[in-house]
Amino acid sequence: SSAKFFVGGNWKCNGSVANVAKLVDELNAGTIPRGVDVVVAPPFIYIDYVMQHLDRDKYQLSAQNAWIGGNGAFTGEVSAEQLTDFGVPWVILGHSERRSLFGESNEVVAKKTSHALAAGLGVIACIGETLEQRNSGSVFKVLDAQMDALVDEVKDWTKVVLAYEPVWAIGTGVVASPEQAQEVHAYLRQYCAKKLGAAVADKLRIIYGGSVSDTNCKDLSKQEDIDGFLVGGASLKGAAFVTICNAAG
Ligand code: G3H
Repeated sequence: SSAKFFVGGNWKCNGSVANVAKLVDELNAGTIPRGVDVVVAPPFIYIDYVMQHLDRDKYQLSAQNAWIGGNGAFTGEVSAEQLTDFGVPWVILGHSERRSLFGESNEVVAKKTSHALAAGLGVIACIGETLEQRNSGSVFKVLDAQMDALVDEVKDWTKVVLAYEPVWAIGTGVVASPEQAQEVHAYLRQYCAKKLGAAVADKLRIIYGGSVSDTNCKDLSKQEDIDGFLVGGASLKGAAFVTICNAAG
């Protein structure tokens, strides 16, 4: 596709005051090619520090989640409006850990996505099948349902990055093969062309996540429809993450 390469670093619920400072220093020491969007997503509590210390000519910030609606009596939540107010431009929504551990349905993820977009955020929207679903031959059916919910709610796709993360590849060290990932990415782009038009589909960044490392990123990035990565574990190591940011196909 003609899309600009995009790499997200999802730190998940990891970090301490000391090692966030170390990771920021490592990232600042790295070289990021012009023309690549790199977005890091620390836990909420470290966003302020990272915002103040990370070189934001090279890196943008993301949250890992946002509340489904606006401000109010929703103890423990952070709204998209607050992220915008604070200057955080991106949010990850629908990560498989949110879906499986916190019961976020396709509809909830879609509503969160449209709310976040309306609040002015860019959204890294995550989809993907479990191993059981893959083994039973229902990959495309599962992805269709996840996509249908998004398409129902999202009118403007210009600020959406779609992350395909097969659940069986997340945190397992079992990365999808370039062919397996490409097959799904091509399917998703076709789906988008059909539902949203060829122009939207061509510009949409479809990124891969699931055990991406500094050694497997290059082969994945050569695939026609892989426009970048969403990186978990390897995003906690500055040098490895910078290597991945330099893998553009
Ligand atoms: O959001 C990132 C993904 O869940 C991938 O995590 O790179 O540790 O497999 P991982």
